[in-house]
Amino acid sequence: MTQTVLATGGAGYIGSHVVAELLATGRRVVIIDDFSNADPDVIDRIARIGVGRPELVEGDVRDPARLDAAFGRFPVDAVIHLAGLKAVGESVADPLRYHDVNLGGAVALFQAMVRHGVRRLVFSSSATVYGAPRSSPIVEAAPLGALNPYGRTKLMIEQIIDDLVVAEPAFASVSLRYFNPVGAHASGLIGELPRGVPNNLFPYIAQTAAGVRARLSVFGGDYPTPDGTGVRDYIHVADLAQGHLAAVDFLLAGEGKGRNTPVNLGCGRGYSVLESIRAFERAAGRAVPYDIVARRPGDVAECVADPSRAAELFGWRARRGIDEMCADHWAFQSRLMAS
Ligand code: UD1
Repeated sequence: MTQTVLATGGAGYIGSHVVAELLATGRRVVIIDDFSNADPDVIDRIARIGVGRPELVEGDVRDPARLDAAFGRFPVDAVIHLAGLKAVGESVADPLRYHDVNLGGAVALFQAMVRHGVRRLVFSSSATVYGAPRSSPIVEAAPLGALNPYGRTKLMIEQIIDDLVVAEPAFASVSLRYFNPVGAHASGLIGELPRGVPNNLFPYIAQTAAGVRARLSVFGGDYPTPDGTGVRDYIHVADLAQGHLAAVDFLLAGEGKGRNTPVNLGCGRGYSVLESIRAFERAAGRAVPYDIVARRPGDVAECVADPSRAAELFGWRARRGIDEMCADHWAFQSRLMAS
């Protein structure tokens, strides 16, 4: 029988890629999304990839009636919970909104899962739960401690799931701790659509290469890294999406019962800001003018995954390198400008 996966936030940047990968494996996908940070056009764009069309329930995950509508479409085999707010600066300015949307959404969703007897969950967590890592590469057993309200909501949701699996031992969950997702679908049809001034490095680089922004500010040139700029584990969003598929397969094979298993999704290889700029310039064939400025408060020098658990448990590893990340990111940015 066709399996059905419910994807909250399935119209967003990461969600849309996850949905496309799920459809490509012949699964049925029901999206619940309120389009607060996604373009309604995304559903058509996913369909144009040619792998199928997701079902859509428009609404907020905090709304039990909309959740019941989503769970009522088809018997759901597994849930991927991607919906949530994700801007660090905004979370510092308006913490209650972050706690309301992220924690409220998670609790309402988990209650709906219990109501509908669905016990397989993949949660979109983040490497932000490691706070300021004491060593790198980072293993899942590393100390946890978020540095801002956004990060705390991710950590608290993991803890809520930890509590839930104790109370409901038939429940199985994987919390995927994303490192730095970048790039876009190879079709150029879906990608990241940052609203306003981008906070993250790659969207900013892409807009600078495109001439939308004049210059990139490199936050800090005096970190204890090889070239003094921050090092991150960038991961192609298509690899990240396939990591979700691997997690769903793991859960649907009956693994992970009574546990919330944290799993890093990263490449295990770090790139500095300057290396990223150079790779992007090569891919785009355009210059990315930049200035080295002061460090951004709250940033860490280096954050790189040890991705071996994902390989051991799921047989998953990232396959796409920095050149492909930049080329696909640029292809999507170029299409945006042409449309
Ligand atoms: C950021 C968030 C993190 C979140 C992640 C989601 C902060 C402090 N952290 O991580 O909680 O989970 O995004 O993807 O916001 N950089 C520049 N110039 C820029 C932008 C970034 O030099 O205009 C540098 C940063 O200092 C850093 C690297 O680029 O060294 C990556 O930055 P970014 O893309 O914002 O990701 P993180 O800081 O790793």
